[in-house]
Amino acid sequence: MARIVGGITTSHIPAIGNAIAKNLRDDPYWKPFFDGYPPVLEWLDRTQPDVAIVIYNDHGLNFFLDKMPTFSIGAAQEYRNADEGWGLTPLPPFRGAPELSWHLIEGLVAEEFDVTSCQEMLVDHGFAVPVSLLWPDRTTTAPEGQIRTIPVCVNTVQHPLPSPKRCYKLGQAIGRAVASFPEDLKVVVIGTGGLSHQLDGERAGFINKPFDLMCLEKIVDDPESLIDLSIHDLVREAGAQGAEFILWMAMRGALQGQVTKLHGNYHIPISNTAAGLLLLENAA
Ligand code: DHB
Ligand code: FE
Repeated sequence: MARIVGGITTSHIPAIGNAIAKNLRDDPYWKPFFDGYPPVLEWLDRTQPDVAIVIYNDHGLNFFLDKMPTFSIGAAQEYRNADEGWGLTPLPPFRGAPELSWHLIEGLVAEEFDVTSCQEMLVDHGFAVPVSLLWPDRTTTAPEGQIRTIPVCVNTVQHPLPSPKRCYKLGQAIGRAVASFPEDLKVVVIGTGGLSHQLDGERAGFINKPFDLMCLEKIVDDPESLIDLSIHDLVREAGAQGAEFILWMAMRGALQGQVTKLHGNYHIPISNTAAGLLLLENAA
């Protein structure tokens, strides 16, 4: 049977992709951010997950305001990336896991999550930057040795957005679907984006450290204390783009075993954003 071995949260901002491309890991601005990652990379190296379910938000590359599904899932052999205008060089395609994708889609629809299935899907920085951070050798590895990925896209761009509770329940349904997949696979679930940030308007640059630290603590052992936050609460407390925290809640919902925090890091700011990193182990 497939099983979820852990969950990871990470910022996804485009500037990280540029810092990786320009090899700025030891630059004084970037070092405290990148220094958070080695324990997570070591865990991935030890654990060797077969598939990463990446819960992220598309910011206008694959979906735009004309068509905006609340929840969508990739079901492709591979996912391409494209120039979004952030100066990021498009990356080689990401390997898919279509059989598990279709199993998730069937499980979610059976549980009344009417997801949009995507047999073609462009993945933007919300997906590509975290995969590049967590699998830095991917682009130099032969395709059959690369991590297989499933993009799960949640609308955080066009209101109304799904609530933290709805996203947590989506994660729980993903967790049940993975557990009923007959193949013996190790799965890691990644929630990208967050923590507090606001990119535009009067509050541009807004960061709320006490709120972020509360979320980083509660999501580990008491995630249900966060499910009654509304989207308005999140926008007020974490900024308009801080609503990306719903992606973390979906990740956390998928971990229904014994959850242990193995590592965490919080760094402000990178670009306009509070960067939060968590590594949660999910034991049977
Ligand atoms: C930034 C943050 C984001 O979440 C994003 O999608 C793009 C940019 C930033 O802080 O620069
Ligand atoms: Fe974002």
